[in-house]
Amino acid sequence: MAIRIAGIGTALPSKVLTNDDLAQIMDTSDEWIRERAGIASRHVGGLTSEMGVEAGNNALKAADLTPDAIDLLVLSTSSPDQRFPGTSAQIHAGIGLDCGAFDVNAACAGFAYGYVAAYGMMMLPGGPDRVLNIGSDALSTLVDWEDRGTAILFGDGAGACVMERHDQGELLAFDLGADGNLAPILYCEHGDTIHMAGREVFKRAVRAVTASIKTALGQAGLTPDDVDVVLLHQANIRIIEAVCARTSLPMSKTHNVLETTGNTSTATIPLAMERAESAGVLEPGKIVLMSGFGAGMTWATLVVRW
Ligand code: COA
Repeated sequence: MAIRIAGIGTALPSKVLTNDDLAQIMDTSDEWIRERAGIASRHVGGLTSEMGVEAGNNALKAADLTPDAIDLLVLSTSSPDQRFPGTSAQIHAGIGLDCGAFDVNAACAGFAYGYVAAYGMMMLPGGPDRVLNIGSDALSTLVDWEDRGTAILFGDGAGACVMERHDQGELLAFDLGADGNLAPILYCEHGDTIHMAGREVFKRAVRAVTASIKTALGQAGLTPDDVDVVLLHQANIRIIEAVCARTSLPMSKTHNVLETTGNTSTATIPLAMERAESAGVLEPGKIVLMSGFGAGMTWATLVVRW
């Protein structure tokens, strides 16, 4: 049995905040942000549940399906609307689903974690035939707008895909990792804002993602040359460049959105996936590598035959 992605959908709030807008409220500049992070603007003003509903509905539409076709909802988020219920419940109601639903919090690696969880459940006897895997985060609500070290990086967004049993498509290998000892370098307490040691996160992210990609490719018995499409967590273009250089994956195979979205946390990989789809590169049989990292610290790499 194999599992394919039958439809991709995304959502971004309409309000756009440019680097020049940020320079009005803090000591920064468009030039600095572009050079250090590769970001020009980001969308803000989103609510995790609302963006999740929109992205989920768009994925259903792309797959030409109605909500009754979905057997399970997996939502990854680290900015839930409420402490409980899970925001998956709100999205479940918003879309009009009739199936199980749960939240995953693996921060920016959440979408890839959700993908593996969903895939594993689909493999169980009697498991779901179709899963709606959504990543939605509204990190602009958790940012300290006086902290130029973090406020420039994050934005709001959601991305979703319908996973379905099919003879096309396969998860060839995956690598999931975490190191809770690194929690202090990136965290957000209840009722507080994001705290981040930027340089340390940068260094650890490059190291973790590089190792994770090598592990997953090794497990799949593939080399970097075999990979057709690279979808990396959209945190900083310099992290993407550093990972590509260390893994021998050419930048030309990456599909990036961060220039206009910033870091949308768990939504970045499905947003990049939609970009790749628009570019026409997600054809059946292509080897697609996805890798995310985030607070925890967590990381996750998937090697998929499309
Ligand atoms: N505008 C202008 N100057 C800024 C600035 C901003 N927005 N933010 C920091 N600076 C200043 C610093 O104060 C420092 O000045 P100093 O040398 O006088 O002390 C200088 O720029 C360099 O700061 P530093 O933090 O070392 O810069 P950096 O090159 O590491 O870039 C980040 C900062 C945050 C862009 C970068 O570290 C990064 O992207 N880290 C990873 C973060 C991440 O991906 N988090 C999400 C993980 S899911």
